[in-house]
Amino acid sequence: MKKSSLVFCAGAALLACIAGTAQAAEQPTLTKFKHVAGIVQEKCLACHTRNFDLPFYAAIPGIKEIIQKDYNDGIRALDLNQELVERAKNKPASEVTLAKMEWVIQNDSMPPAKFAIVHWGSRLAPEEKLAILDWVKTSRAEQYATGLAAPDKANEPVQPLPDSIPFDAKKAALGKKLFNDKRISVDDTVSCFSCHDIDTKAGTDNARFAEGVRKQLGDINAPTVFNAAFNTRQFWDGRAADLQEQAGGPPLNPIEMGSKNWQDIIAKFQKDSALTAELTALYPDGWSEANITNAIGEYEKTLITPNSRFDKWLKGDAKALSVDEQRGYDRFKAYRCASCHVGKSMGGQSFEYMDLKKDYFADRGHPLGSDKGLFGFSKDKNDMHKFKVPTLRNVELTAPYLHDGTVTTLDEAVRIMGVYLAGFDIPQQDRKLIVAYLRTLTGEFEGKPLTGQVTAK
Ligand code: HEC
Ligand code: HEC
Ligand code: HEC
Repeated sequence: MKKSSLVFCAGAALLACIAGTAQAAEQPTLTKFKHVAGIVQEKCLACHTRNFDLPFYAAIPGIKEIIQKDYNDGIRALDLNQELVERAKNKPASEVTLAKMEWVIQNDSMPPAKFAIVHWGSRLAPEEKLAILDWVKTSRAEQYATGLAAPDKANEPVQPLPDSIPFDAKKAALGKKLFNDKRISVDDTVSCFSCHDIDTKAGTDNARFAEGVRKQLGDINAPTVFNAAFNTRQFWDGRAADLQEQAGGPPLNPIEMGSKNWQDIIAKFQKDSALTAELTALYPDGWSEANITNAIGEYEKTLITPNSRFDKWLKGDAKALSVDEQRGYDRFKAYRCASCHVGKSMGGQSFEYMDLKKDYFADRGHPLGSDKGLFGFSKDKNDMHKFKVPTLRNVELTAPYLHDGTVTTLDEAVRIMGVYLAGFDIPQQDRKLIVAYLRTLTGEFEGKPLTGQVTAK
């Protein structure tokens, strides 16, 4: 893909801007995108960008309250200026944005009905809806499809996991040793594996909060390392750009591995001549933080769990799912779950408000330091309570759930998602179907089904 020239885009000048910048996308998609961009500018942007003045009729008594609320809720739901206009300067629309756009069109929910009533001509014409859906489909196929789905499943928001991704086998073998090595911690008691048990706990610790050196507890749940390679950023708040940068965090974290500095860790490794020989054969400049974390990152690229029953179904094996499990997947899409849990790893791509539709934190009580989410890292007040969407791969094995580790059953996780993120009070019967579907997401590692503590209910 060609890098585009940088052109400043104001929210209101969307079309002019797209014309100047979107050489970035490939041709047919570009034409479709231009058309969609025109529709979005005219009918959506007013409520979905931070730098757009409220329209004049917002001043009319009574209407102001409705518009102001729609504007506030709309901008929290999706910043279309940021996701389409700003992003189009160098990247295609994200898989998450595509899924969100698809959902509102399929469900005819945008623009909001009460707005369409007061604002004549704001509804989408049938042709416009088709244009948006067509653009979603083309963009998905071009940018995100893993190419593994059967033709009739190719446009599903969830894609099959690939069997593997490229990695350096020797570095990964070394990385595995380092991942399992307790010498990285200050008192030789904790390894990465201690909190991310690959063998029996699906890459987690199955505990509410992780226990670090000297039995210290943090205030945030340990996510799985399986399929973390697909995360666009690492950690619940995204503070690490990639796996290598992430691996630099825990060793010096006082409550995780507690080492004072990398020299102390390296001094221990240097005494191990076999390990030192293995490392210098691969990294001629010898022991360093960069080389240790690079090897660990390479190893984590091997932690992929393909071939779940759902993947088999996506690849064309109609019998891989029961009728109820397929209904569960339909509900999963209908209740908007696939808007955020999208793509091959069903998460890891965007940061979303845990209190999008209702105040989760007020209802839960007992504030935690970790509740800040993305704000804790970005310090942007608009990021308060936003968390990276966790992967749902192998989710029946990764309890407890959520950043605060408060949820121990899938049924409760689905209920909470409905109320606070999707905006639905999901009836018990439908939750049951969704949970049945979620249990089909358990994949294979090294050719064998992943096993662990299966969440009851
Ligand atoms: C009058 C303001 C307004 C307009 C115009 C508007 N939206 Fe929205 N949008 C909202 C609000 C409010 C929400 C929050 C969800 C809700 O309460 O329905 C939202 C949510 C969304 C979402 C997230 C899904 C969700 O349910 O939370 C998407 C995607 C979206 N809008 C797309 C669009 C598109 C595409 C258009 C143009 C066709 C559009 N919106 C026009 C106000 C608006
Ligand atoms: C004391 C327990 C503990 C140890 C030891 C530990 N981790 Fe973690 N890990 C966690 C917790 C808790 C988080 C979430 C922290 C956050 O997001 O702020 C996490 C997050 C991660 C993530 C991000 C996953 C995602 O979805 O964002 C990766 C990858 C990871 N750890 C790998 C490692 C590696 C590699 C090591 C060894 C160098 C390691 N961890 C050591 C507990 C631990
Ligand atoms: C607007 C985006 C969004 C929507 C819609 C959404 N989720 Fe989530 N989901 C998230 C985020 C963000 C988290 C983590 C929140 C936290 O821990 O604070 C999460 C967490 C989860 C978890 C816990 C996973 C774990 O490892 O902790 C499950 C299970 C889940 N979602 C399922 C669903 C289901 C089922 C639906 C549909 C009813 C759904 N989600 C809708 C964003 C979303």
